[in-house]
Amino acid sequence: MAKDNKNFFKSKNSWSEIKDRLLGWYLRPYFQKVLMSRRPIYYVDCFAGQGKFGDGKPGSPIIALQARDACLSKTTLGNTTAKIDVCFIELNHAQQLSENIAEFNNNYGYPSVISGKYEETIGELLSGKRGTNVFLYIDPYGIRALDYELFEKFNSYGFHSLEMLINFNSFGFFRDACRAMGVAYNNDEALRDLDDLVEYAPTEINASPQSTELLSKIAGGDYWKEIVTRYNHGEIDGYKAERIFSTEYKARLRQWFNYVLDMPIRLKSGHRPKYRMVHVCNHEDGCFLMAQNMHQRKDELFTNIQQNRQPSLLNLIGNITSTIENDFMTTDEIKKLLVTYLKKLNGEIGLRKLLAGFLNEHGLLCEFNMLHEILEDLNKQGRIEITRTPAITLTGKPSSFWEEKKDRRITIRRKQL
Ligand SMILES: C[S@@+](CC[C@H](N)C(=O)[O-])C[C@H]1O[C@@H](n2cnc3c(N)ncnc32)[C@H](O)[C@@H]1O
Repeated sequence: MAKDNKNFFKSKNSWSEIKDRLLGWYLRPYFQKVLMSRRPIYYVDCFAGQGKFGDGKPGSPIIALQARDACLSKTTLGNTTAKIDVCFIELNHAQQLSENIAEFNNNYGYPSVISGKYEETIGELLSGKRGTNVFLYIDPYGIRALDYELFEKFNSYGFHSLEMLINFNSFGFFRDACRAMGVAYNNDEALRDLDDLVEYAPTEINASPQSTELLSKIAGGDYWKEIVTRYNHGEIDGYKAERIFSTEYKARLRQWFNYVLDMPIRLKSGHRPKYRMVHVCNHEDGCFLMAQNMHQRKDELFTNIQQNRQPSLLNLIGNITSTIENDFMTTDEIKKLLVTYLKKLNGEIGLRKLLAGFLNEHGLLCEFNMLHEILEDLNKQGRIEITRTPAITLTGKPSSFWEEKKDRRITIRRKQL
């Protein structure tokens, strides 16, 4: 049964916290970095909500406005160059939202609130933003408004840069896909307990051509049908089906964006993931920053919320790491993937670009430390060459840092792989 979401804003639930921390932590360094392009930023929260929860906790609009004010109060660029325009689209709570964010009408700008539907208003809002840095936060209850074609279209507007953070309910999609193809899923744990995530005013999905057409519009093709057929034949379970579907969906996004990362999110402690946050951008710095962010939130999931998902014994005794997807992969397996990736490179590459490209291809397989260790090993074996600038520390020792900041740079060159 579809759940009525009227209580959504009464108090903030734990998985909304994770989502918002992912956004809040990312936006400050994002604003800071992108302002250096000396072009304006246009930030749109496309499903903005009420701005604040009943328990006083900030919603995504206030989180973004706090990040805006924090960055603009520190910048030395001057207020004609450093500009962050903020816009909120909200279908049901525009009035309440305007009241809740009134205190942010200040020297840094007046956020605009559009009362309406994202899918009907976003095109016009973005069409005049050529040369601007655009960030879209897309956090709907469900999937119905996520028209894939719109994402394709955004690329033709000539922005200076475009990034999106999307709450993508891939499990809900797959459940609807089963409904549309008349496939039973009732006993499948993967597709249960999705009620918190479903639509405000659900469109009935049933075995009809309209439903299949709608799903193909959301997915950007009808590849999902084959996944449902495999599920129906018992070749794959619900978790596997969702993984295959998400992988295909991300591959479609990669036709338009250089980097696509995602993070599976759980609704309750000890449960398996129920939806994904997907981040897309065109610059390696954005991908790298979001990967760091996702890793940090993953740790919070394990320690704060996922109390009972400590590393398993297997993890502690072996050369084995738990991935963000809850699978296990040995260091050797990860090393093989990294070596294969390195073999495709020509010439020198910056560490950040290397890692962003690798993560884009394989996802967040392991901590950065493990990738650093593998690279260090390959370096010692003479299979790659790692060059650090500055090469020598202030005390005259060879540099060994892994973090590129200020004037510190790391480049990798492949030798005998
Ligand atoms: C998950 S909530 C957003 C929560 C918000 N990001 C926060 O952190 O507070 C989704 C919001 O989208 C609104 N909404 C539903 N359909 C919409 C549409 N087609 N266009 C814009 N907003 C919509 C709902 O009223 C709801 O407030």
